Amino acid sequence: MTTRAKIEKSLYSISPDILNGVNCSNKENARRIINYPAMMVPSVQESIIQSILDYYPEEISLLDPFMGASNTLVTGMKFGVNVFGQDINPLSILISQVKTKIYDYSLSEKFEDLILKLDRSRSTKIEIDFNNIDKWFKKEVQVELSQIYRAILKEPDINIRKFYWVTLAEVIRLTSNDRTSTFKMHVRPLEEITKRNLSPKEYFKKIGKRNIADLLTLKSELSEKGFITENSYQKSVGVHWGDSKLKINTKARCNLLVTSPPYGDNQTTVTYGQFSYLPLQWIPISEIDEKINIDYLKAIQSIDSLSLGGKTVQDYNLVEKMLFEKSTTLYTLFQKFNENQKIKAKKVLNFFHDLDSTIDNILNSMEDDSYLIWTVGNRSVNKEVVENDNIIAELFKSKGVDLFVDLERDILGKRMPNKNNFSSTMSKEKILIFKN
Ligand SMILES: C[S@@+](CC[C@H](N)C(=O)[O-])C[C@H]1O[C@@H](n2cnc3c(N)ncnc32)[C@H](O)[C@@H]1O
Repeated sequence: MTTRAKIEKSLYSISPDILNGVNCSNKENARRIINYPAMMVPSVQESIIQSILDYYPEEISLLDPFMGASNTLVTGMKFGVNVFGQDINPLSILISQVKTKIYDYSLSEKFEDLILKLDRSRSTKIEIDFNNIDKWFKKEVQVELSQIYRAILKEPDINIRKFYWVTLAEVIRLTSNDRTSTFKMHVRPLEEITKRNLSPKEYFKKIGKRNIADLLTLKSELSEKGFITENSYQKSVGVHWGDSKLKINTKARCNLLVTSPPYGDNQTTVTYGQFSYLPLQWIPISEIDEKINIDYLKAIQSIDSLSLGGKTVQDYNLVEKMLFEKSTTLYTLFQKFNENQKIKAKKVLNFFHDLDSTIDNILNSMEDDSYLIWTVGNRSVNKEVVENDNIIAELFKSKGVDLFVDLERDILGKRMPNKNNFSSTMSKEKILIFKN
């Protein structure tokens, strides 16, 4: 049997329970240190990566150009491979820096000290100001968040501070006046805000302890597999801020891509930027990465409008023609729309235009003979299903890259918005595996 046939056979024999993430736990791979939207299910990725690596003897360098909460990178580390990721959202960079860092027990000791300091802190000075801060945070919450903020900045070790900032981000998500049931920002009703009596310091203690336990468990798993020497992961890790439609910033050539791209433009699908807006107000940019050069603090929509499909294309007719030539599925979809509906559906073309450029950049970063695993879901526009899976496969085909295997899974363990612009097919996802 050829290698290709062996991999194909192994992929098709993955059980539906594993693919559907039936027994997946939020504790896996420190996934719950922050509840980032639309996180991938590690056990699903693990089984697919395993099927490929079993028959692919080369040194592996894995790339995720839409890294999110870096579940892919962490999964790659469990196989002891080089991992590189990129994302446009500064919060994703911070989370990924922390999840790919190897912490030791000194983190617990430092955390205990920080808690003692926090217990003693009485200052009511508020450290942060931004437009409408009082709408999003009660005064007493601002006071305690400021106490945490000051205590974090006193820690000399940047990697420990980064861990504290991620923990603070999750505390902010839970103690602001923003509803946690949606990723778009919606303030809670006044009556509910008045009744809520939350202490960010208590949340910080609880979440911090849980996060330390999860990160140390992850470290033990990597140590047991022999992938850690002197408190460092033995292979390369690269976490880059950047816009994948413009450039893939890692210099490494990769031979395995594992990713889950957005389902469409952020505004009408998953607003990763809005989800990150309040936490990012409290985290100095210099604490994340000096290279980040977008102004995301002033407008709630900034990050989302810079993400895939967030900006309107200049020459609409040309883009339409170009994309329709590459994808008959996209062409057929647009034939169903009247003129008004076509205007509403422009966002779909903006999105695929950006995704098409991203695929070009990705292919430039990949070795020949590499595998590219894309987990994609469909969405709907004008009550019609946008078949992201078929469209992406056609975009790849137009570049001479064929689909190798496609698998289907139920979305059980993924945190998605329950909003109307996701079609009923949103309960399923496709895993498209291409061979370059
Ligand atoms: C589905 S999420 C990835 C989730 C990730 N696989 C996980 O398990 O956490 C998609 C990510 O794409 C990012 N993104 C959107 N547009 C981007 C762009 N132009 N360049 C880089 N990242 C982008 C979003 O910020 C978001 O984090």
